[in-house]
Amino acid sequence: MPRVLIVGATSAIAIEVAKAFAARGARLFLSGRDPLKLSAVADDLRVRYAAQVESAVLDVSDVARHEDLVGRALRCWGGLDVVLVAHGILPDQARCEASVAETLRALEINFIGTAALLTVVAAAFERQRSGCIAVITSVAGDRGRGSNYVYGAAKGGLHVFLQGLRNRLHAAGVTVLEIKPGFVDTPMTAHVPKGGLFASPHRVGRAIHRAITRRRDVVYVPWFWRPLMLGIRLVPERVFKRLKL
Ligand SMILES: NC(=O)c1ccc[n+]([C@@H]2O[C@H](COP(=O)([O-])OP(=O)(O)OC[C@H]3O[C@@H](n4cnc5c(N)ncnc54)[C@H](OP(=O)(O)O)[C@@H]3O)[C@@H](O)[C@H]2O)c1
Repeated sequence: MPRVLIVGATSAIAIEVAKAFAARGARLFLSGRDPLKLSAVADDLRVRYAAQVESAVLDVSDVARHEDLVGRALRCWGGLDVVLVAHGILPDQARCEASVAETLRALEINFIGTAALLTVVAAAFERQRSGCIAVITSVAGDRGRGSNYVYGAAKGGLHVFLQGLRNRLHAAGVTVLEIKPGFVDTPMTAHVPKGGLFASPHRVGRAIHRAITRRRDVVYVPWFWRPLMLGIRLVPERVFKRLKL
C-alpha cells in the first residue's frame, strides 16, 4: 500500500486525493500550515476509512523546515512512494500590481517555497530510486494573462522546473507528475462567479489519484482544458495582447 506525503493537505483538492488514497489503504503523512484544520482533516480520514494518518504543521514559506518535514515523513513510514504538493494562494492581481510585497509573497508561496521543497524531495527520491512526485500547478501557467499573471508566472515557472526534474529523475525511476486544473470550486475561488467550466474538488481529486496511480507525466483536469489551452497558446501574441483576459 502506498505511503503518501501531502503538502498543503488542508486544500479542498488535496483532501479529495487523500480520501481516494485512504479508501484504498494507503498510509498518509499530512502537512498543512493551520494546526486545527490539519488535525480535523487527519481525524476525518481516520474515522471514515480507518486510515493510518500522521501529520505535521508546516508553512511552506519556512524553507528552513523542509528537510525536517520530509525526513519525518520518510522515517514515519520507512520511505515514501508519493509526494503530492498541493498548497497555493490565488493573489489579487490588482493588489500585486500596486505592491511589490504582495507580488513577492505570491511568488514566494507559489513558486520559491515549492521549488525549495521539491529540491529536498527530489534528492530523497533519487536516493531511494523510486517514487512519484506530483505537483498541482494550473492552466494559468500556460499563458500569461493581464488578469492573473503573477499567479500564472509562479505556475508557469513550476512547469519548467518540473520538466527539468522529470528529465533528471527519469533515469532514477522517479515519476514527476504535473497536474494542471482549470477552474475548481474550492475556497480559493469562493469569490469567483461560477460557470460551466468549474469542476468539483471531488472530480479533480479522483483524476489526480488516477494520474498518480498510472504514473502520468502531465495531466489537465478535467481533460477538456488540454485542447482549450492549446487553442489559447496558439493565438499570436500581436492578437493576444489586445484581448481583455
Ligand atoms: N481552485 C482552483 O480553481 C484551482 C485551479 C488551478 C490550480 N489550483 C491549485 O490547486 C491547489 C490547491 O488549491 P485549492 O483549489 O484546493 O484551494 P484551497 O482549498 O484554498 O487550498 C489551498 C491550500 O494551500 C494552503 N496554503 C496556502 N499558503 C500556504 C503556505 N504558505 N504553507 C502551507 N500551506 C499553504 C492553504 O492552507 P490554509 O488552509 O491554512 O489556508 C490551503 O490548504 C493550489 O496549488 C492551487 O493553486 C486551484
